[in-house]
Amino acid sequence: MAEHVRKRWQLVLIVSPLQGHMTPILQLGTYLHSKGFSITIAHSKINPPNPSNHSDFMFFPMSDNLSRPGDFPSFVEFLQALGDNCKPHLQQHVIQMINTQKDTYVKESIIIIYDNLMSFARTVASELSLPSIIMHCSSAAFFPAYKIIPQLHLEGRFHVEAHFNNQPRRGSESIQNLFEDSLLQEIVPELHPFRYKDLPFANLPIQQALQSVSMITPNTAPSAFIYNTIEFLEPSALTEIHQQYQVPIFTVGPLHKIIPTPSTSFLEEDTSCIPWLNKQSPKSVIYVSLGSIATPDKLLLTQMACGLVNSNLPFLWVVRAGSVHGFKWIEFLPEGLVDETKKRGLIVEWAPQKEVLAHNSVGGFWSHCGRNSVLESVSEGVPMLCQPFSVDQLLNARYLSYEWKMGIEVVWKIGEIEGAIRRLMLGRESEELRQKAMEIREKIQVAIKHGGSSQSSLNDLVDFIIW
Ligand code: UDX
Repeated sequence: MAEHVRKRWQLVLIVSPLQGHMTPILQLGTYLHSKGFSITIAHSKINPPNPSNHSDFMFFPMSDNLSRPGDFPSFVEFLQALGDNCKPHLQQHVIQMINTQKDTYVKESIIIIYDNLMSFARTVASELSLPSIIMHCSSAAFFPAYKIIPQLHLEGRFHVEAHFNNQPRRGSESIQNLFEDSLLQEIVPELHPFRYKDLPFANLPIQQALQSVSMITPNTAPSAFIYNTIEFLEPSALTEIHQQYQVPIFTVGPLHKIIPTPSTSFLEEDTSCIPWLNKQSPKSVIYVSLGSIATPDKLLLTQMACGLVNSNLPFLWVVRAGSVHGFKWIEFLPEGLVDETKKRGLIVEWAPQKEVLAHNSVGGFWSHCGRNSVLESVSEGVPMLCQPFSVDQLLNARYLSYEWKMGIEVVWKIGEIEGAIRRLMLGRESEELRQKAMEIREKIQVAIKHGGSSQSSLNDLVDFIIW
């Protein structure tokens, strides 16, 4: 009888409703489907993926009974409510899958692969004795950096907490203050090369910071970890994760270069920027975007506009509609300033970012340093101006400027922003940054080729699932 039993695998991918998290998991799903696995995407009703872009997948919408993350006092409370509401639906659905397989000749192995923000999926998996794999959409350095926070707090070394006075890090004033506090500039001895000011959750009240750490720390080892990173980029952080959990870690990035997928954008891409880019000189344009969730204040965006205009360089600037609290778009910018921006640049609500970064006219990227933006920029050899806001973005910015030497940190002083833009785009320093960025790009191209570290890691992941 046994030889008549076909064995196949059902992978249930639990995605979170964040753009920067959902994209890499859908890319991974596309790869695993191409290897013969059947894929179910379990998602919240907030920010659902578009099933018509992924006709090979099955979709399971979990009833979250929530409106928007912004309606919660904190992101961690949103995640908790999301988990509480979605967990019973996921559990019911997976039980149904198990029961269905009992009635067939097909012996299915159900494996849960979940975004690290959807930690309730780990509980569902362990209650049903199913293997679970965590997918991390941040850099590997995020793990040692958040793990150390409770210890730093106990020892009175989580300085940033007092510094921000529980204010969100939205504006140029709070960012400027960081540069003036020398304590925050010091390197955390256990976390070289990261400084106290690079620590995640620094802008949260301490109880929320500790709650966030506990929510994303796996208290039991998962079956494995998947990271959208490349082995050579952050070896020490990967070693530390392995030492802690002693389970396989698959470093499969940058997924967008390995697995071309249909658009996963929640927002409509304004493709009018491509003909505009076609008219610009090679490497002349600075592309500016603060990602999908940052909520800058109007002072910060006004200073960005002044810096861009004063730099006298062409720019393509993404400002998400409604990203500045209380405004529809950029109507708070003085009329004269808007006129000036039109002479030099183009402002859009959402761009086809990967295409933009691969465009020959783009010579630099002013970014919030979200994980995907960083991977998309390094993969094209585009140097970066780093303006992190929160979570892992601060670590990514430090990697770019200090470790990989292909980025410049923004210095928030009036008159210095345009200087930083010009340093990124023109002259000797710019050439050196670009040279470094191109070296990293070449190494990435090796990693994603047949036999390269990321391709091998994907093969290993497939073998791991089958065994
Ligand atoms: C969030 C967190 O900010 C980040 O720290 C974490 O690492 C991942 O989740 P997000 O703000 O969404 O990230 O930024 P990022 O990770 O850079 O992802 C943004 C995605 O949106 C990228 O894939 C980018 O290509 C896309 N994008 C952005 C567009 O397609 N068009 C745009 O105009 C801007």
